[in-house]
Amino acid sequence: MDEAKKIEEFEAKIAAGEKIEPKDWMPDRYRHQLIRMISQHAHSEIVGMLPEANWITRAPNLKRKMTLLAKVQDEAGHGLYLYTAAETLGISRAELVDQLLTGKAKYSSVFNYPTLTWADMGVIGWLVDGAAIINQTMLAKSSYGPYSRSLIRICKEENFHKKQGYEIVTHMAQGTSEQKEMLQDAVNRFWWPSLMMFGPSDKNSPNSGELMKWKVKLKSNDELRQRYVNMTVPQAHFLGLTLPDDDLKHNKETENWEFGEIDWKEFYAVIKGNGPCNKERMRARQNAHEEGRWVREAALAYAHKKKKAAS
Ligand code: 3HC
Repeated sequence: MDEAKKIEEFEAKIAAGEKIEPKDWMPDRYRHQLIRMISQHAHSEIVGMLPEANWITRAPNLKRKMTLLAKVQDEAGHGLYLYTAAETLGISRAELVDQLLTGKAKYSSVFNYPTLTWADMGVIGWLVDGAAIINQTMLAKSSYGPYSRSLIRICKEENFHKKQGYEIVTHMAQGTSEQKEMLQDAVNRFWWPSLMMFGPSDKNSPNSGELMKWKVKLKSNDELRQRYVNMTVPQAHFLGLTLPDDDLKHNKETENWEFGEIDWKEFYAVIKGNGPCNKERMRARQNAHEEGRWVREAALAYAHKKKKAAS
């Protein structure tokens, strides 16, 4: 079958709402885009463990420590499902990890900001996991089978993370004036980075066209960002919090919460490696990889020995 015919059949399958599976024929660009996106997503889950892990030893009580520990552990699990989904496209885990550690692959910009107080743990759950869920419930319907299926479980767990964050935030919003101040400060620091998680505006998003054509993404970056703002502003108001945007206003006709201009200079600086914590995050992952080398080697040697004994 010639290439044009194969593409036609591939696109017809997508148009009919069928999933593309690893052994199906797919255009090279589809494979390339998926590897890029799924691996960046996996890296985000793994690097995303770092800002919160920072607070495990300093959680205010045992209950908080246990829930935070479980959440961080869930993120490791998400990373593993996603690396496995990426591997179905013909790339090895070692290559993917190498791309992260050598700075060739990106991970979400939001994890390059520091976590300065306990309130950040609540605000990350509420705002950052909240943004991730909006994006990922859409991606759970994406055309690539292994990615969409991995996201069904991930979204269930992310929903739980969002609830635990919102519960911390609700608790602090009803607390002492110092707690309220700490909470407001965390919201002020994480509001704009959470909007940046959705990526550049549609007119500056080079990958969206292809991804939407092949139904990997079903909504654009700006559409999802607006949905997130519409959902989150009333929650902030309910909690008695303000959002650090003087241009935020409700449009009665469109029912959208219109927001001010995102600082795209900051966004591009962060994704190019110049955010407040990029270097620290990369160093932490590189060290973890080195320190874990003996475990990987021992596991491989064991597997090899077992295989030899069985043959
Ligand atoms: N952080 C870092 N890089 C980003 C970014 C962000 N917030 N937004 C966009 N970029 C990068 C893109 O990766 C792309 O770079 P590349 O071409 O070198 O790969 C470039 O900026 C241009 O952006 P595009 O809009 O063209 O890129 P996409 O169409 O891929 O859209 C995306 C970006 C919305 C992040 C999309 O890739 C996506 O939905 N990815 C899957 C979900 C994901 O990775 N989420 C990250 C958060 S995971 C998480 O939050 C963990 C949870 O535990 C909280």
